[in-house]
Amino acid sequence: MDIDIIRDYPTIESLRIKAKKNIPEFAFDYLDGGCNNEENLNRNIKDLKKIILEPRYLRNYKSSSTKKTLFGVEYDVPFGISPVGLQGLIWPNSSEILAKSALKNNIPFILSSVTTMDIEKTARLTDGNFWFQLYNPIDKNLRRDILKRAYDSGCKTLVILADVPTFGYRAKEIISGLSMPPKLTLKNILQILGKPHWALNTLIYGQPRFKNLSPYIKKNISMRQLGKFMDETFSGKINPDIIKPIREEWRGNLVLKGVSSVSDAKDAIKIGFDGIIVSNHGGRQLDAGNSSIKSLSKIVKHINKNKTEIMIDSGFRSGPDIARALAVGANFVFMGRPFMYGTAALGSKGGNHTISILKKQFQQIMDQLCCEKVDDLPSYISQ
Ligand SMILES: Cc1cc2nc3c(=O)[nH]c(=O)nc-3n(C[C@H](O)[C@H](O)[C@H](O)COP(=O)(O)O)c2cc1C
Repeated sequence: MDIDIIRDYPTIESLRIKAKKNIPEFAFDYLDGGCNNEENLNRNIKDLKKIILEPRYLRNYKSSSTKKTLFGVEYDVPFGISPVGLQGLIWPNSSEILAKSALKNNIPFILSSVTTMDIEKTARLTDGNFWFQLYNPIDKNLRRDILKRAYDSGCKTLVILADVPTFGYRAKEIISGLSMPPKLTLKNILQILGKPHWALNTLIYGQPRFKNLSPYIKKNISMRQLGKFMDETFSGKINPDIIKPIREEWRGNLVLKGVSSVSDAKDAIKIGFDGIIVSNHGGRQLDAGNSSIKSLSKIVKHINKNKTEIMIDSGFRSGPDIARALAVGANFVFMGRPFMYGTAALGSKGGNHTISILKKQFQQIMDQLCCEKVDDLPSYISQ
């Protein structure tokens, strides 16, 4: 690890502060904000801190392994990169930076349908080791086409989103008038002029576009037009009848993301999902909802994690946070904003650096607890 980078940016919060300085306000608000009063966003972070772990110093402890197998693949650490839309708007080329970092560090990378890098490029950058998050197209031929592109590119895990039956009400995005590409209002021009590094990189890499959807979508549409296109072409509403044909056609693992109730978790298994991601979209959809760690603690009482992969995201910012969720019963943790703070703060070095902070912190807490295997973490929770 680069000594200067770790000294200057030892935590995810230090990357967040630098990211805020580096990118225009409208991009930072899009990345950082939650819905309504941001209560669920804050609850995610606050509730995690309530999980306390107890070490076992007198055990005959030798060393810890941070490796974890998920869907038959052994990863170096039990965490990965959540799907994030419009990544190139937050930091130019950030999808590419993160995909390469995921491969280098042997962690999973989930590509969003609505980000700024396409399936085919992701496959090249990850050697085919990527997951794909599908916004479900209403037209079955369109769905088949996207899924064929993903499967043929090497993707073996498909993620379906449960928690976007409607757009989140996000005041910061409403105020900043977020659009794709950014609208050149006086306010936005002033913001862009104040961030020359971001502006230069946008010039170098070109305006961000929805590259995954470019075969199906008109170019250069605004956020409002995108909303209309998404409403007409994709549906965020899901039910067993919608999932059934996807389950029949998709030959890989099927994961439901955005589960925050026991009933959805049970239904997901009945419908045929192989795994769930307990998530509230990082507090961007339902402000009155439970924190994801609280949802997890309810769900693990009803679902057998040896039969169904139980994963989680929303609010994770450190190695201890990751250990907390695994101790509560998750098999794996994903994160969205931390990796984006990293690339917005440090550009091409941001992906590797963010992963290395989290890896180092996670290794430290495993050693500190004297916990040898990731799967043993549940026995370290303070009752
Ligand atoms: C800016 C932004 C865009 C997102 N876009 C998507 C998306 O396109 N698809 C998706 O499944 N989730 C999306 N999410 C949710 C993330 O996958 C993830 O659930 C969330 O970021 C987890 O919370 P965290 O940021 O606290 O780690 C987005 C999140 C953010 C912050």
